[in-house]
Amino acid sequence: MGLLKLENLHVALEDGTEIVKGVDLEVGLDEVHAIMGPNGSGKSTLSYAIMGHPGYRITEGRIFMGDEDVTELEANERAERGLFLAFQYPQAIPGVTVTSFLRSAINAIRKARNNGVDDPIAIPEFRKELLGQMDRLKVSRELASRYLNDGFSGGEKKRVEILQMAMLRPRIAVLDETDSGLDIDALRVVAGGVNELVGPEMGALVITHYQRILDYITPNYVHVFVDGRIVETGGPDLAKKLEAEGYDPFIPAGVEA
Ligand SMILES: Nc1ncnc2c1ncn2[C@@H]1O[C@H](COP(=O)(O)OP(=O)(O)O)[C@@H](O)[C@H]1O
Ligand SMILES: [Mg+2]
Repeated sequence: MGLLKLENLHVALEDGTEIVKGVDLEVGLDEVHAIMGPNGSGKSTLSYAIMGHPGYRITEGRIFMGDEDVTELEANERAERGLFLAFQYPQAIPGVTVTSFLRSAINAIRKARNNGVDDPIAIPEFRKELLGQMDRLKVSRELASRYLNDGFSGGEKKRVEILQMAMLRPRIAVLDETDSGLDIDALRVVAGGVNELVGPEMGALVITHYQRILDYITPNYVHVFVDGRIVETGGPDLAKKLEAEGYDPFIPAGVEA
């Protein structure tokens, strides 16, 4: 059963240009869904809209988490309900260290789940969890005291996105091209982190241009995404077919890809 449900989702840019043109999708716990599509097809726009980015307008359709309609909720309120987005292009936040960012994010979620009453995580518990996850995900400990993503390499940014996911324990994680910019070793570590977390407490939506990450994370469902729409859904074999044949067979006549 789907936990995250998209119903006929349409998303436009601030200037009104429609990018996502009617997406229906359900992602349940213990499920991995892959969305594969060419560059510019609207994959990041879809992920921003799921997360509630204010620059992307939902013009039609609805987003649900379980029974709750979250279409009108702010990004932080969606995070409190268990949604998480690992960004394709993580932003630097000079002045905020990785450690303090993670602690604030965890405490915000704990507060929301505790009916709005502060319930901060004990520092020793937080440190133990943070150091354990950093070691597991092979994130250099030195990064913990640095400003978030400030001067981080592409690979470090992506690992820190997965570190956030591991620390925040979302119910649905959306990973937007987490594979881009990773060498094979980093890809293995990142994919391993996702595989460990997907289960009865988490489902994942893995968005990617290349089939490569799907050698390490086996999706239950693969959705081909072209020009703002899911044009085909299948099992893991569909990813192999895309690798062999490219997106051309899926691109409708008259659409530029
Ligand atoms: N903030 C934005 N401002 C202007 N154009 C945007 C913005 N976000 C996305 N677009 C445009 O929307 C289209 C889809 O982009 P995107 O969602 O990033 O695709 P993908 O992630 O599949 O490569 C592209 O034409 C892109 O230039
Ligand atoms: Mg993108």
